[in-house]
Amino acid sequence: MVFTAGGYPNVGAGLPFRVPETQVEQLIYISTARSIVLSAAEIQDILEASRHNNARDGLTGLLIVGDRRFLQVLEGDGAALERAYARIKADPRHFAMVELGRKSISQREFGDWAMGYESGGEDLRSTVSVLTNRVADPSLKAQLQSFADIHTRAA
Ligand SMILES: Cc1cc2nc3c(=O)[nH]c(=O)nc-3n(C[C@H](O)[C@H](O)[C@H](O)COP(=O)(O)O)c2cc1C
Repeated sequence: MVFTAGGYPNVGAGLPFRVPETQVEQLIYISTARSIVLSAAEIQDILEASRHNNARDGLTGLLIVGDRRFLQVLEGDGAALERAYARIKADPRHFAMVELGRKSISQREFGDWAMGYESGGEDLRSTVSVLTNRVADPSLKAQLQSFADIHTRAA
């Protein structure tokens, strides 16, 4: 099953983070869900809070869920990103967080998504592949793709 929030209408056209920015931080991490099987309701809860808070805080990004693993990319102003990351780290719904990368970028990769979302079994790989067409940074693209490859179940 694939939920696509790809075109999720971020409340954002015209928000301040759409104008050229000088300093944007980008963070990527993976973690493991506490629940053995993540329910749609759990995911919904996470996405609702994420989209609400991220739109408020000028953060954008992507959450991919494969089996029990999360991969999240978050981007935005450094201080706002740190505050969100501190909340996320303290969230008991997941554990074993591993930061895969953190860097300054000149342009957001997911500028129009308060939190895009993908999850899936068999078709996670192809969905993520379509999604990553728009990602400019080759190393980020490779990280997303390899996460999808690992978590794509054999048909
Ligand atoms: C995998 C995962 C990703 C999350 N991503 C975000 C996020 O991008 N932004 C956010 O504000 N909260 C995110 N959360 C939720 C936070 O951990 C926390 O519950 C929420 O920020 C609290 O918001 P509130 O203070 O408005 O209730 C995430 C939680 C999990 C488990």
